[in-house]
Amino acid sequence: MKGIILSGGAGSRLSPLTKVTSKQLLPIYNKPMIFYPLETLLKAGIKEILVIVAPDRAGDYLRLLGSGREFGAKFTYEIQDKPEGLAQAFIIGEDFLDHEDVAMILGDNIFEDDLSQEIQSFKSGGKVFAKEVPDPERFGVVWFDHEGKATRIEEKPKQPDSNYAVTGLYVYDNRVVDIAKHVKPSARGELEITEVHNAYLKLGELDVETVKGEWIDAGTFSSLYRAYKLAARLAGENDD
Ligand code: TTP
Repeated sequence: MKGIILSGGAGSRLSPLTKVTSKQLLPIYNKPMIFYPLETLLKAGIKEILVIVAPDRAGDYLRLLGSGREFGAKFTYEIQDKPEGLAQAFIIGEDFLDHEDVAMILGDNIFEDDLSQEIQSFKSGGKVFAKEVPDPERFGVVWFDHEGKATRIEEKPKQPDSNYAVTGLYVYDNRVVDIAKHVKPSARGELEITEVHNAYLKLGELDVETVKGEWIDAGTFSSLYRAYKLAARLAGENDD
């Protein structure tokens, strides 16, 4: 299985912090943010990783991460010219993936849990990870039936009666490239990852696991603050 870290985007909600650097390079306690999702992939034994970045930040990522040798891995880089949606990563990554399965993680997502087992046990179809959150309307939201099977996923619904957000880690077989190519841009002009989840859901091949530990999408000031606290705790620091 290969890995993708999607680390482009504008980071506009964190302005002015993101005026001269990329959101995913901001420090979270003792490391740049992107190290956390990177470690999630490395821990799962994924050694070939594509880092997708915005054009104006590519040099910073190269300087920070380099060839990957230091991490016991091999890094490849691609540029996403415009932030045209998460699903576009599979199209940009088509050659890199070369018909293999993929675990894609967002460069601003921090998971407390070690998800290696869940990633390594993937066989085919799709596997995504959900977490109960107080503000589901910010995310893709998933509904479950009484047997715990996912029935529906919607992107940023207004007042959802489910609190389960789809987190930023997605494991897919190589059909995802073709599926992504057929996704039409949404009203906000993005290839939505929710459309990809729904394509697999329709095929009856989407496994939605729940995450037990903390999950942080560090895209806002308050989640950035929570990310810092979690990272300090994970590093064994008691900073209260
Ligand atoms: P978002 O948080 O939705 O977008 P953003 O990072 O641009 O932030 P803002 O809304 O404040 O402007 O993106 C989630 C993650 O996905 C983040 O790590 C950036 C990344 N991303 C891309 O790399 N390309 C894209 O086209 C999009 C939409 C997001």
